[in-house]
Amino acid sequence: MNAPRHFLDLWDIEAPTLRAILEDAKTRKAARRGWPQARVDADAPGRDRTLAMIFQKNSTRTRFSFDAGIRQLGGASVIATANDMQLGRGETIEDTARVLSRMVDAVMIRAVNHDSIEAFAEASSVPLINGLSDRSHPCQIMADLMTFEEHRGPIAGRTVAWIGDGNNVCASFIHAAAKFDFRLVVACPDAYRPRESDLAHASGRVDVTSDMWAAVEGADCVVADGWVSMGDSDYEDRVNAFAPYQVDEALMAAAGPDAVFLHCLPAHRGEEVTEEVIDGPRSLVWDEAENRVHAQKSILAWCFGAI
Ligand code: CP
Ligand code: NVA
Repeated sequence: MNAPRHFLDLWDIEAPTLRAILEDAKTRKAARRGWPQARVDADAPGRDRTLAMIFQKNSTRTRFSFDAGIRQLGGASVIATANDMQLGRGETIEDTARVLSRMVDAVMIRAVNHDSIEAFAEASSVPLINGLSDRSHPCQIMADLMTFEEHRGPIAGRTVAWIGDGNNVCASFIHAAAKFDFRLVVACPDAYRPRESDLAHASGRVDVTSDMWAAVEGADCVVADGWVSMGDSDYEDRVNAFAPYQVDEALMAAAGPDAVFLHCLPAHRGEEVTEEVIDGPRSLVWDEAENRVHAQKSILAWCFGAI
């Protein structure tokens, strides 16, 4: 039996494969413009397939976009929070993987610890998708790049400025810079720099600075995320450290004249971004949220061997 196609991290997948997934997402989105949300795509690559989703953390976009996506591919979904499962009572992640592998065709998991995603993947005979962990959020960045390219053309050779925490979402941006050939400048307080192990996947395309004004110089895209992620306990320290790292109109003005703003959401207006920016003309956040559906459908199609 062939090894299952897991989608765990962008650094782990060949660049042409990631590009093919992104192009498939654009094609699928264009083909269903104006359709009701639950109509199935003409080729229905998820027909007769079931996706299981496990959530160890809260989610709005990931949950609804995967559910909408698998339906549009012609398949079905089963969703559970880890606390509803025996996983929440101590059953091992490996045994959970073995059991679900006998019942569904793919699994998406949002996990507290990335290690448990790797352990699940190791024990699973069906594809596993990382729907966010403490270390990365690869599905998000596929939607982000799709959104940028819809509005501004190819990402290759462009500059993205990341403002704030060198966290899980930032890590997947770092991995993407090498795969999609763009420059990424991360501006963050020293205490919240990206992990060296993520920067090791950057192929020289990522710079890290504490100067956000320098970071946005010539940027085509400015990206922010919350100062406090799910599972972070150092709220006060974070708010103090990140207070100077707010994306406001002055920072956007210092970026390139056509620079757009992205945010994975949920957003905290008045913290990492001002209302004027996130609700302003350069913000693409609602397209970005919608594109979670389109990008993930193509990730699923790849997992099912249809790409
Ligand atoms: N951006 C994102 O993953 O949102 P949710 O936490 O709502 O899934
Ligand atoms: N960095 C955030 C992303 C939420 C989608 C978190 O992990 O909470």
